[in-house]
Amino acid sequence: MRILSIESSCDETAVAITEGRRVLSSVVASQIEEHALYGGVVPEIASRRHAEAIAGLTARALAEAGCGYADLGAVAVTAWPGLIGALLVGVNFAKGLSLATGLPLVAVHHLRGHVAANYITHPALEPPFLCLVVSGGHTHLVGVDSYTDYRILGATRDDAAGECFDKTARAMGLPYPGGVHLDAAAEEGNPAAYALPRPQVEGRPLDFSFSGLKTYVVNVIHRCEQKGEAYSLPDLAASVRRSICDLLTEKTMAAAAQYGFSRVALAGGVSANRLLRRQMEQACRAANLAFFAPDPPLCGDNAAMVGVQAYYEAAAGHFADQTLNAAATRSIVEG
Ligand code: KG4
Ligand code: ZN
Repeated sequence: MRILSIESSCDETAVAITEGRRVLSSVVASQIEEHALYGGVVPEIASRRHAEAIAGLTARALAEAGCGYADLGAVAVTAWPGLIGALLVGVNFAKGLSLATGLPLVAVHHLRGHVAANYITHPALEPPFLCLVVSGGHTHLVGVDSYTDYRILGATRDDAAGECFDKTARAMGLPYPGGVHLDAAAEEGNPAAYALPRPQVEGRPLDFSFSGLKTYVVNVIHRCEQKGEAYSLPDLAASVRRSICDLLTEKTMAAAAQYGFSRVALAGGVSANRLLRRQMEQACRAANLAFFAPDPPLCGDNAAMVGVQAYYEAAAGHFADQTLNAAATRSIVEG
């Protein structure tokens, strides 16, 4: 079944045509340059850009896949979680398409989509597996029991890992979104140069807390600025990256051991991080676990991952209708 899928939860408008796990076309219009002017996503601008881009991208995705509406079996859309105004653009466009074409409608959870990016890169990967979902707004350790059944085994108590990357990068004067720039700067730095905290959550060894680390790093920078002292940006970037990646790797390995998973995957924008991929791969090899991560271009927001998850939601009989509404927050467990 061919699916036309739409993603508009944050600052990328994306449309794809997929068939099972196969991607026939995938187009993304990024708004990053415009939001970079403000140092972060401006929700109102995001919604307006989605509204402008979505019809043209849909036509392009169909043309690149060489198909028309008559060749499709469903329309899918990211309905939650995300920026509500941004999500509503995709949801309403998808409802309009479904109404006009008679195609069934499938609502997809954004983080389930990120997990499904792994199915595109790794055609043989099947649940059950453990997935570390690390994006700009979420950090979860998720047990993927089947394509549509999930358990949350650990989560952040405050900031997401991506937020910690972005906010510390911003304090260093790096452009938005900071994570990718911090990652690049860190490649040149010494990760042992700064002794940074690795916060733990008392009594909850699989949970994360990044806000203390973020505040500590921002204070290091402010102190240097106040005293007129220079700090080494590559060294500080490398030290921050090491702290975040150590915490992510350590807790993922602990969860895999505790719950007996033999396969471990990464998902979400932060899974493009070079050190995280290297560390997780090494840790999995040492523990004799199979390791998976999406190809770097599939780690960020795209509609192909939404289409692939929609295929599994449809196979499980999960369809939406014209009463579908977007939601800013919703657990991956609820779907
Ligand atoms: O999944 P995503 O594209 O959007 C959300 O669903 O939030 O994730 C975006 C996050 C941002 O915080 C961005 O800085 C981070 O992923 N990111 C990275 C890297 N590439 C993107 N963080 C660290 N290293 C990277 N290479
Ligand atoms: Zn995302």
